[in-house]
Order: sequence, then C-alpha cells, then structure tokens
Amino acid sequence: MGVKIVETCLRDGHQSLFATRMNTEEVLKALPELDRVGYHALEIWGGATFDACLRFLNEDPWERLREAKKLCKNTKLQMLFRGQNILGYRHYADDVVEKFVEKSIKNGIDIIRIFDALNDIRNLESAVRATKKYGGECQIALSYTTSPVHTVEYYVELAKKIEALGADSICIKDMAGVLLPNDAYRLIKALKENTKLPIELHSHCTAGQCEMTYLKAIEAGVDIVDCALSPFAGGTSQPCTEALNVALRGTQYDPKLNTEMLDIAAQKMQPVRQKYLANGLLNPKVLSVNANIIKYQVPGGMLSNLINQLKQQGASEKLEEVLREVPNVRKDMGYPPLVTPLSQMVGTQAVLNVLSGERYKMVPKEINDYLHGRYGASPAPVDEEIRHKIIGDDKVITYRPADDLQPEFLELKKKYKGIAKSDEDVLSIALFGDVAIKFIEQRNEDAKPTVIKVEA
Ligand code: CO
Repeated sequence: MGVKIVETCLRDGHQSLFATRMNTEEVLKALPELDRVGYHALEIWGGATFDACLRFLNEDPWERLREAKKLCKNTKLQMLFRGQNILGYRHYADDVVEKFVEKSIKNGIDIIRIFDALNDIRNLESAVRATKKYGGECQIALSYTTSPVHTVEYYVELAKKIEALGADSICIKDMAGVLLPNDAYRLIKALKENTKLPIELHSHCTAGQCEMTYLKAIEAGVDIVDCALSPFAGGTSQPCTEALNVALRGTQYDPKLNTEMLDIAAQKMQPVRQKYLANGLLNPKVLSVNANIIKYQVPGGMLSNLINQLKQQGASEKLEEVLREVPNVRKDMGYPPLVTPLSQMVGTQAVLNVLSGERYKMVPKEINDYLHGRYGASPAPVDEEIRHKIIGDDKVITYRPADDLQPEFLELKKKYKGIAKSDEDVLSIALFGDVAIKFIEQRNEDAKPTVIKVEA
C-alpha cells in the first residue's frame, strides 16, 4: 500500500506562509476538487485558524467548518488540538476540553491531532478521553525537537505511553523543520519496531531539509506524510503535494493521487497566493531556505512573528541577536520544544532579554507561570538560579495543572446567555474572551431584521 498524504494548505499552509489570513470563501474555493484528490485527510482547523477568523476576518470559525463539511463528502477533515490548551493559550478545565471536542466532532471534524508542547502526557488525557467518547479518530502528536534529552529512546518511551493511552495513530510533529533525513530514518524505524500504531510525519521546508527527510521517512516505513498544494508549499510550509506524488509514482510508495483534481485545485488557489503576495502578508522572506534554522531551532511561524515583533519595535537589525538568544532561553527553561504556546513565550523572552539589555530583567506572565509548573513538567530541569531570580521561593506544582481548575462551561454559559446563541458561541468566548464577544455581538447585531419605515 502506498504512502498516504494529508493536505495542509487550508490550515498549516497559510498559517506558515501568511499568518492564517485566508478567509472562508478562499478556503472553500477548491474544496470540491480537493475532496476528490484521494487524500488521507484535509487539515482545516486549528488554534490560529480559529483565532484569525474571530480577530481579523470577522468570521465564525464554526461556520467555516460546517460549510467545509458540506463540500467535503469523501475526505476526512482534521484539526490540530493543543491538549489542555484546546486552541487557546492557557489551560482550560476538563469540562471545556470535553465540550470543545464534542462540538468539533459534531460540526464536522473527523480526526483530532492532539499534542502538548512539553509532551506532558497528563495534558493530553482529557482531550483523548473526549475524542474517543464522541467517536472521533484520535491522533497524538509528539512535539519533535532536538536537545540532550530528546533522544530516540525518549521518543520511543513516549510512543509506548501514547499507545497505552488509546491513540489511533502517532504523528511526529516537527514544527521547526529540524528533523534531518537520517535522524528521521532512525526515529521512524525505532517507532515502527516499538508500536503497532500508524506513524505520520509533519515537518516544514524552512531549513531546506524536508523533502529529503520525507523520502528517508518513507523508506523507513512512515505511513502518512503532511504536504501542501503547490501554491502553499515550500518555504516555512510543507513540501509540495504534487511533487511528492510524482516523485513516488510507480514505486511501492505511490500515493496514487488524482492529478487532474490536483491541477484544478492548484489553479484555483494560485490567485489566492498572488493576492497575499501583492498585499504583503506573504513576505517573500518566508519562501526562501533558511539554513540557520538548524542552528536556531526556530519554527517558521515563530520566525515570521519575531520579524514582525522587531519591526514594530523599530529593532529589525536585532534579529540575528534575538535568534542567537533563543537557544539560551530554551536551555534555561529545560529545553521545551518550540511549539505554541512555548514558541511565543520563549521568543518574547528572547526579544526582552536582547532589547532590555539584561537577561530576565523583564519576564512575561506566561514564563512566570511556566516556572511555577503551571504548564506541566519541563522536559529537562529548568535553571534553578534563573527560576529563583524570577519567582523567588514560590511553590512549584508537580501535579497535573488542570487538577486545579474548577468546571467552567456552565458558569460561562450562564454569564453570557444574553450574547451566546449556542454552545459553540460559549466555547468561542471561553477560548478567546473579548475578541469572541466583540465578534458575536456584531454578528447578532447584523442578523437583526432591518425595520423598514413606510413613508406616509
Ligand atoms: Co506545522
């Protein structure tokens, strides 16, 4: 059987290349063709797509999902889910996690890819339980990174725990594109030998490694790889779907995708790419190879955020210095993988360390919480001297962080009963607060029937 392909252009593709700004009309544009390509799944939803809908596009992310489901009858829809963070930036109570999973599946999601930035299994448990309860396919992703503690043995042990937790498949999530071809070969061989679950690989072209890495991963027996349609491929995004399909043609790995449908879909999406290139949201910088990524271990999304952050501060010339500070902050924090929300946290701390002229003189609340153990266990111990400088003798928690959280869904539902029209609205508010409230109020206002004054 050939290798399976998950198409990412509707989620990670535009997230990696132009800050997830594609609107629903553009997302739906080529969906009938994409649905007939023969993909394993179409990735369509995640934290940034949800956030950008409410914050920048004035669109209901739930509505996008429902519309996509109507056009997508043959292909499974997939979403990315940050464990106890759901799609937001803090830990939510178990009842909100469960309700969000339930509603995602009811509105059209088939496969939920669940991960925790720190690979702390305790942060995955309640999302996994809910996914199985509501009949979704549960994939658990290992946040891939390199560090003295992130060895093949570390990932094999993690994979065994994931299998025991009841996952349907495992994804190696290499958000930075730092997985090298021969390391991928060894890692996938080891995972295939030690678990029965299908293995998927998700990586990025940022460092110029990814196509080579995919080929070695395929030779090592990987079952599924994530690719993006040509208008959204390469650079900080995934390898090109059409190219990989051709490269494997006639081999035992042939994905046998429908090339005619791929062509039409790519033609339909090409003008979307042109639009974002023309309006500057798609910065050509993210389209070229950045060989330094291997040294700095920075994911594409984080790189474009850092570029923007420094530009806003009028400090663009500090980029190299900030990129050199990122691995230092990471080491101090016990080598967290640089994935949301840790990528933003470590990135912001690196910016502050450089711009303020003194390391840890200014510390965001999130880093403070992290040092209290509120995100879960760090992969390696944090630097105690730095922890002490920041949080003094405060108590550090060692239990599952969500155990501290009281149920919150019914409370929110009651509080916002005047605004929220559905449980989906309540969930949007639970995750994105004022941003969601502002959107929902405007939407409700727009939906009011206009009173027509009849002239006497
Ligand atoms: Co990604």
